Amino acid sequence: MSVGGKLHIGMSLAPTWLSGEGWRRPDSDVEGIFSADYYVDIARRAEAAHVDFVFRPDTLFLPTAALENGPGFSSLDPTVLLATIARETSHVGLLSTVSTTFLPPYMAARQLQSLHWLSGGRAGWNIVTALDGHENFGLGEMPSAEERYQRAAEFTDVVMKLWASYPQDALKMDRGSGRFADAARVRPIEHQGPHFSVRGPLNLPAQGPTRMPLIQAGASTAGRNFAASVADAVFASTPDRQAAVDLRADLRMRAAAHGRSPDAINLMPGLSLYLAGSKAEAMELFKETHARADRARSLATIREMTGLDLSDWPQDRKVTVGDLPLPPETPRSRTHAQLLQRLIAREALTVGELLWRPEVMGSAHWQVIGTVEDAFEAVRDWTAAGAVDGFVAVPGGSVSSMRLVLERLLPKLADAGLFRKVYAGRTFAGHLAE
Ligand SMILES: Cc1cc2nc3c(=O)[nH]c(=O)nc-3n(C[C@H](O)[C@H](O)[C@H](O)COP(=O)(O)O)c2cc1C
Repeated sequence: MSVGGKLHIGMSLAPTWLSGEGWRRPDSDVEGIFSADYYVDIARRAEAAHVDFVFRPDTLFLPTAALENGPGFSSLDPTVLLATIARETSHVGLLSTVSTTFLPPYMAARQLQSLHWLSGGRAGWNIVTALDGHENFGLGEMPSAEERYQRAAEFTDVVMKLWASYPQDALKMDRGSGRFADAARVRPIEHQGPHFSVRGPLNLPAQGPTRMPLIQAGASTAGRNFAASVADAVFASTPDRQAAVDLRADLRMRAAAHGRSPDAINLMPGLSLYLAGSKAEAMELFKETHARADRARSLATIREMTGLDLSDWPQDRKVTVGDLPLPPETPRSRTHAQLLQRLIAREALTVGELLWRPEVMGSAHWQVIGTVEDAFEAVRDWTAAGAVDGFVAVPGGSVSSMRLVLERLLPKLADAGLFRKVYAGRTFAGHLAE
């Protein structure tokens, strides 16, 4: 966020408000989650609230056991879905997720550039190194985080070179002379690297002169360095304000070390919002949503992330930093493991309390359970503390909670001068530059 600028806000298109028991509510419309109409409706509502972008996270594997109780990770392909939404919206940015671990960069470059054309410059790329799915791509095991980030850096470099390989202004389309393009300006990239060998050029021109926004998710040291080198924004999990302050300051410093302006990188944590008419109702909504929360799974998460086995501990026993053994060396996500270790060190919660915290139950996102006013105050507080440049809204619990975010919270932020009231332009990069 530039000095005096407004917050940047993204809206999740993963229907997080259907998680847990949310999909079982009579008005959930869960039958629509594999249809275009469902997402077009949310995208239109998000556009009416002037969000910077709608955002589809994605994975390329399916844990089937979880399907017994909810939709879990089953989802439409994000780029295909966003191409449909492009036709039904006019301003909102369209952030797709493409893993750098599994797909060839030529395909990613082509699909994203296609979305950029189809949406008139509104595409963005959420770069993930992914947490699982190797068996679907012929890999015996998941590459280590280091390897994944090395590959991600080369992958991103190749994609950007491919986008530049066929610049839009190479197109001439001169009927009189019969010259369609200045072919000399369309050049192979001749990339030869440790992971990829790509000749190029891309078989599609770039849409416009502006690079499409890159967002990165993952916040280990390797993740931060990678983000600081290329990303316009980081989608992060920051369950406490200080975690966000520290991460934002660190990312800005690393961006400067890469010769970029610190303002070039925006920290946009996920913000989980369980909103209702009163705090008590919101808490009820949260509890109902997690009524069947799987204790065994939460205990397994704690064990995987910290090495601590709490299965025989009484509910009211406090877990302190002194209880933590040496953490496992390779948790699936070091970011999430560190956030959980940090929570235990900071708050010394009982086992019962710990099991309900976002660091254990969910994606470790910043969370507000309360009224629109409570959410507004939390956002104002974190913004004033220099903790965030914006957030990605991940509403929880129910459709009405989701609607309160789009129809009440965002307009309230706009009225307070913290967020835009109208779009100044029609491109995603333009929204982020405001
Ligand atoms: C907030 C957040 C969101 C993520 N979203 C996705 C996603 O949608 N799909 C995916 O495959 N991986 C996702 N990841 C995983 C990251 O791409 C990365 O593989 C993982 O966090 C390990 O990197 P790290 O150690 O730097 O955190 C996400 C990670 C974070 C922190």
